[in-house]
Amino acid sequence: MPTCEFMCLNGEIVPYRDAKIHAFSAVVKYGLGVFEGLRAYWNAGRGELYVFRLAEHIERLRFGMKMMRYDKIYDADYLEDCLIRMLRANEIRENAHIRMIAYVDGDDELIVTGPVGLVIGVMKLPPRRSLETGVKVTVSAWQRIADNALPPRVKCTANYVNNRAAELEAKLNGYDGVLMLTADGKLSEASGACIFLVRNGRLITPDVGSDILESITRDTVIETARRELGVAVDERRVDRSELHAADEVFWCGSGQEVVPVVAVDRLPVGSGKPGPLTRRVQQHYFKIVRGEVPEHAEWRTAVWQRN
Ligand SMILES: Cc1ncc(COP(=O)(O)O)c(C=O)c1O
Repeated sequence: MPTCEFMCLNGEIVPYRDAKIHAFSAVVKYGLGVFEGLRAYWNAGRGELYVFRLAEHIERLRFGMKMMRYDKIYDADYLEDCLIRMLRANEIRENAHIRMIAYVDGDDELIVTGPVGLVIGVMKLPPRRSLETGVKVTVSAWQRIADNALPPRVKCTANYVNNRAAELEAKLNGYDGVLMLTADGKLSEASGACIFLVRNGRLITPDVGSDILESITRDTVIETARRELGVAVDERRVDRSELHAADEVFWCGSGQEVVPVVAVDRLPVGSGKPGPLTRRVQQHYFKIVRGEVPEHAEWRTAVWQRN
């Protein structure tokens, strides 16, 4: 799906073709960008578009800018205003995926910290088939980047060279996706999603010390599973072999949403079909993001009916 016609560049709404930066900017030379991928969901009954967990995405972006020692850290209000204006300029009234990137624009040496730029764009996105069918994945030979090298909790563009290598290798080898292990061989995460296992009716997910992105969807799944579905969740170190002992596996992320994992390294997970708890989590997730239930209204930012 192509990026929509209007983007927001440094606060201005500009046509896609004009959202340009210099070829020698630090983001090109050194990967000095921090970014967010978010979703907006159309609720036809209410005639409203909801951005899901916008405040948390903005806070993570601001954290990334701080960790990367940017000269300037944008206010949360400014970031929200730019994003909403861009969605309105594109007249978005369907499900969509939004990307925002805060980057170092300066053409200078490695330690350059500014000037800082901001670009935001959106793509219309229909639901993917893998939500229904699930994905067959492999465990990568590429090791997950570690916190004392390139911290995965910072959503920095340079980090994704690691994710890309793993995903590309998996796809060339005929898999739908990939899981990565930490330096000490424990389960970390997928190339663009966090991972959950189901064992004996409990959810298990690698803890935040397992070199994962501190995922907003992971947090959503943990919170709603505990509070609304009455399911216990363990956040702990997870062995690779537990993937094969699990009754169900799924991964989750803003872009991926909640996707069943039906095989790992050609061994079926459980029955080899999406499992019942995975389906419950999935269905509940979609009700919340689309605003079909009153719970968690604080997670939904309305685009059209607002002051
Ligand atoms: C490496 C990685 N892990 C996990 C996630 C899921 O994070 P979130 O739920 O905040 O989108 C993403 C998605 O952007 C990701 O890139």
